[in-house]
Amino acid sequence: MTDIVVLVSGGGTNLQAIIDAIESGTITNARVKAVISNKEDAYALERAKKHGIKGKVAKKAELLSAIKEEGPDLLVLAGFLVVLPEEIIREYENRIINIHPSLIPSFCGQGFYGLRVHEGVLSRGCKVTGATVHFVDEGTDTGPIIIQKAVEVLPGDTPEVLQKRVMEEAEWKILPKAIDLFSNGKLVVKEGKVEVLS
Ligand code: GRF
Repeated sequence: MTDIVVLVSGGGTNLQAIIDAIESGTITNARVKAVISNKEDAYALERAKKHGIKGKVAKKAELLSAIKEEGPDLLVLAGFLVVLPEEIIREYENRIINIHPSLIPSFCGQGFYGLRVHEGVLSRGCKVTGATVHFVDEGTDTGPIIIQKAVEVLPGDTPEVLQKRVMEEAEWKILPKAIDLFSNGKLVVKEGKVEVLS
């Protein structure tokens, strides 16, 4: 059984997708042991509570101890807007998964988060965007890519409309899928690239 701790900062729709996938059996061999947020008013904590999942608030300085208390096998960053301390990344090498709302390496890195990502996609006139799930390393959105899913940009899209489509058609599908692969030992990292075992 893979014990997961999900780190959140906002609405928690990706957390909800994980919870729903575990409850429906789309994710097997895993459970969310705790949800940790840097924001006490994050609606994601409400979502956890509704499903009987422990919720904790921890500022950056307390994060490592708050995580270690739960003894997770896997950390999932689901809209977590705090840069993880190096010691956490070292301690959980290739055991931290992040969801980013673009096709990395486009529109990622410093300053590209939330709506800013979709604003960049629209201002460049891209016809396709999408989402990426990757392992977290010391950089920003630079770790080994696990899964990507493309999403069409449509005429007249606003950043908000595009964000919703990327969430619905990509994020909420590939994040649970990546967790299920991890929880069933299907992900191997070789020379910085992820191999998915059949
Ligand atoms: C999502 O768009 C995710 O890709 C990004 O932050 C947002 C979090 O949304 N990392 P939610 O809190 O999961 O609804």
